[in-house]
Amino acid sequence: MGLLASPTSVGQPQRREVSRLYEQLCANCHGIDLRGGQARSLLDEEWVHGSGDDATLFQVIREGDELNGMPPWKNLLSDEEIRALVIYIREKATEARHAATRYPQPRPDQTAETRLHRFRLRTVVEGLATPWSVDWLPDGRMLVTELPGRLRVVQDGKLLPAAVAGTPTVRYRGQGGLMEVLVHPGYATNGWIYLAYSEPASSAQSRDVSMTTLVRGRLRALQWTEEEVIWRAPLWSFRPGNIHFGCRMVFGPDGCLYFSHGERGHAQDAQDLTRPNGKIHRILEDGRVPPDNPYAGRSDAVATIWSHGHRNPQGLAFHPETGELWETEHGPRGGDELNVIIKGRNYGWPVITYGMNYDGTPITAWTAREGMEQPVVHWTPSIAVCGMDFYRGNRFPRWRHHLFVTGLASQELRRLQLNGHRVIEEEIVFKGIGRVRDVASGPDGFLYVVLNGPDRVVRLEPVES
Ligand code: HEC
Repeated sequence: MGLLASPTSVGQPQRREVSRLYEQLCANCHGIDLRGGQARSLLDEEWVHGSGDDATLFQVIREGDELNGMPPWKNLLSDEEIRALVIYIREKATEARHAATRYPQPRPDQTAETRLHRFRLRTVVEGLATPWSVDWLPDGRMLVTELPGRLRVVQDGKLLPAAVAGTPTVRYRGQGGLMEVLVHPGYATNGWIYLAYSEPASSAQSRDVSMTTLVRGRLRALQWTEEEVIWRAPLWSFRPGNIHFGCRMVFGPDGCLYFSHGERGHAQDAQDLTRPNGKIHRILEDGRVPPDNPYAGRSDAVATIWSHGHRNPQGLAFHPETGELWETEHGPRGGDELNVIIKGRNYGWPVITYGMNYDGTPITAWTAREGMEQPVVHWTPSIAVCGMDFYRGNRFPRWRHHLFVTGLASQELRRLQLNGHRVIEEEIVFKGIGRVRDVASGPDGFLYVVLNGPDRVVRLEPVES
């Protein structure tokens, strides 16, 4: 799929904005809205050249099909720009498909229909401020993080009015704040709760920088106590700006703690093994380095790195049957990814990507390269992918072990049925009722969803037909 023949443009690549290029060079024939004119529609997803895969479209635009009236563009456009035009055609085609499709947009307590199950959305808690993540204590209490820096407790279905006191001070700016909460699988005996947050730096030389930090602590009444720092980046590596912190945490079947760290808006850092950003990390539950980590004991790499070449990974979950680590990664404009994470591998950002810059200028023509992993799927246009989880409950039997994936900008919850490393079915479960931040298979068998705008946690409950 989608592998390009080697892009060959030499010298300074042209990086002009994609919609202007389309208007100037393509609209005459294919129509200003891409719906066709004197040449065919580019939105109907019917292709005369091959199956209309990325590589074929790239080739047709580059080389043309002069016998049939399509000029070649290789002398006017760089390979990067041609790649951006392919992404642009995909964006417009998906927009057109969404406009022509009705997706479930359930109001509270209304029944919605999907392919395998009917469900009803029940509001669990409202009145939160940008909820980010949820997890449960063995007694059924639900913990919710709020991005501005509060940890909240939901007990017997009610949000306790006071937040947990004494949690770390976060830098709440842009995408940063209090992000992930994770209850240790052995909580019943050890009482540990883990938090991930963006930590402001305190040193005078490095004003206004921050990085993702992990702590663990215990909850006594509504007090955060016995806090220990589990992982913190060295101060020299903290970055300015308030984007791409990650951060998800998950315990693996091996008892290790895996977490994601975004590249903090410094794309090249993702390829730099001496820096911790743009990576998936693996540590022992107390923060020490497992001796079998790929870079353990090396002086030229961060010892906690498990994989690299990541942009902003915001979903992590272990497959309940295979024990493999799956990851969702927020791409640029286009190129959101679903990956299977393998020890020591390079996932390519920003050397390869299926996306372009938000302003419509290209990043690269490369979507694949030797020594770099391909995603299981990529979403182009982006859905603004965020959290994900495998459904492990019994209340929706036909969804068992399906992967649920969230979209912020697209306001979608998606269900993916997998066969090995292939997606064999993908469905939009609902769309357009708020930004979908996170999804979690609850211990009670319901599927919980964290929504932003209006800020709330809801759950999907089955409705028998
Ligand atoms: C002079 C008219 C003309 C212009 C300008 C033009 N095209 Fe085309 N294009 C065509 C025609 C005609 C075809 C169909 C060729 C065929 O049937 O084999 C085509 C085919 C295509 C295809 C393949 C469609 C398929 O079904 O396989 C793509 C993709 C495409 N054009 C993109 C573009 C882009 C991007 C631009 C601007 C950079 C552009 N075209 C500019 C006339 C044009």
